[in-house]
Parts: sequence; structure tokens; C-alpha cells
Amino acid sequence: MQPKDWFRLDGRVALVTGAATGLGQAISVALGGRGARVAVSDKPGVSTQQTASLVAAQGAEVLAVDLDITDQQQISAAVARVMAECGRLDIVVNNAGINRPVSGLEATPETWDEHFAVNVKGGFFVAQAAAHHMIAQGWGRVIFISSQSGLVGVPGQPVYCSSKGAIINLVRTLAVEWARHGVTVNAIAPTFIETNLTRKRLENPEFREYVLKQIPGGKLAQPEDVAAAAVFLASDQAGMVTGTTLSVDGGWTAW
Ligand SMILES: NC(=O)c1ccc[n+]([C@@H]2O[C@H](COP(=O)([O-])OP(=O)(O)OC[C@H]3O[C@@H](n4cnc5c(N)ncnc54)[C@H](O)[C@@H]3O)[C@@H](O)[C@H]2O)c1
Repeated sequence: MQPKDWFRLDGRVALVTGAATGLGQAISVALGGRGARVAVSDKPGVSTQQTASLVAAQGAEVLAVDLDITDQQQISAAVARVMAECGRLDIVVNNAGINRPVSGLEATPETWDEHFAVNVKGGFFVAQAAAHHMIAQGWGRVIFISSQSGLVGVPGQPVYCSSKGAIINLVRTLAVEWARHGVTVNAIAPTFIETNLTRKRLENPEFREYVLKQIPGGKLAQPEDVAAAAVFLASDQAGMVTGTTLSVDGGWTAW
């Protein structure tokens, strides 16, 4: 393939979790913009309508799917629906995640359970359900949205940091298991981006100053910075990239 045709996703079918807003929305739009058909999913009751319209505006086919990733039945049903309507599943972006910042002195067993249920276990079972089809096809791309918080400590969120760190080694392990089937498994580790997840904390001038000081580039990332990394990892051209975590952090973790 000529370089001018690289990073196209024509004919591919992608499933994005937590796609109603923020990074999931930007990733869905980017995958659609490169030619993929995109199943945009979020918890039942959380509308993916805006994302679906933005994907369709890229000229891509789009499917809206209810999927709470902590519910095994919903995972099976969502993957089955994508297979029934699209006939294949090539790309999964495990983007859905939560962060309820609580300090090391205050975290409870419930804090651990809720973060790991969504950020680690939920993503794992979506990947597993998709991988059965990807392995049968002999081609697949699984992309987890980890975080820079999985690579370094960020005060006030030890449980979130642990869950994002767990993703980084989960990705290595699944990559080793599935590589010979043509399925790659990678993570993206973004720095802070203003979304519903972070807006309130970033409005605090002290916290914002702390964040900007950590980023040699001196600015927050944008959802599109992460979406572009996802397009690369989803592409044919990233076939030799597996088990890795791609930092999109303006240099925070490079100090
Ligand atoms: N915003 C940042 O600064 C930042 C930085 C690094 C990593 N991340 C990660 O990026 C991902 C997206 O974050 P965002 O900033 O767009 O947050 P967001 O809160 O705007 O979006 C998260 C989405 O996940 C969905 N979700 C939550 N629980 C779910 C569940 N059980 N099942 C299905 N969907 C569920 C929410 O409904 C929401 O639409 C998360 O994994 C987050 O940890 C965000």
C-alpha cells in the first residue's frame, strides 16, 4: 500500500465504549472519518445521539448500542448485535472509565471495587468478547485508554492510578496471548484533557497550575490528540505495534 493510503480504516467495524462524550466521542468521530463503520456505545440512559450524528457527518455508517461494561449480559448482547448488523468486529476501543478522586487516607473497599469493575474488569471482558471474533477473522485491534496516571503517581487518586496501571500490564499480557492470531492489544496514556471527568478539578487554579507545570509542553492535551493515536493503533500500519502504551502527554512522563 502506498503511504498516501496509510491509516485508512475502510471496511473495518469498530466498537467504542463510553462514546457519549469526551475522548470516546472524539475517537468515534476519528475512526469514522478514516472510513470505519462505528458502533458507539455507552451505558443505557446515556445518549450517544450527538456522537452518532458527528460520526455520520464524517460520511461513516454508525450504530448506537447500549452497553454498561460492568454487565456481562450487556457485553455479550452488544457484541452479538454488532456481529449481526455489521458481520464483523475489527476494532475495540475500551475507553469507558471513571475517576472518583479520593486520597490514600480516605479510599474504601467500595472505591477499589467501583474503579476496578469499570476501568479494568469491564474493559477486559469487552476485549475478551470481541477477541473471539477477531481471532476467528485473523485480524483485530484492541485499544485501551489507560492514562498517564497509570505510569506516574498523581496525588489524590491512588485507586484510579492503580486501575490505569493495571491496564498497562493487562495489555502486555493479552498482546502476547493474541499476537499470533493477528490481534494487537495496546494502550494509550493521555495526560489531562478537559472533559466531564476532569473539568471540575481543572477549574481549581492550584490544581491546574500543578498540572501545567508537569507538562513540558505547557498545555493540556485535546481529545483529538488521543483520537489520532487511536487511528494509528487501529490501522493496518500498526500491525507490529503490540503490548505497548503510547503516551500522549506533552512529555509529563518524560521528565
Ligand atoms: N480526561 C482526561 O484527562 C483523561 C486523561 C487520561 C485518561 N482518561 C481516560 O479516558 C477515558 C474517557 O474519559 P473522558 O475524559 O472522556 O471521561 P467522560 O467522563 O467524559 O466519559 C467517560 C464515558 O464513560 C462512560 N461510562 C462510565 N461508566 C461506564 C460503564 N460502566 N459502562 C459504559 N460506559 C461507562 C460515561 O457514561 C461517559 O460517557 C477514561 O477511561 C478516562 O479514564 C481521561
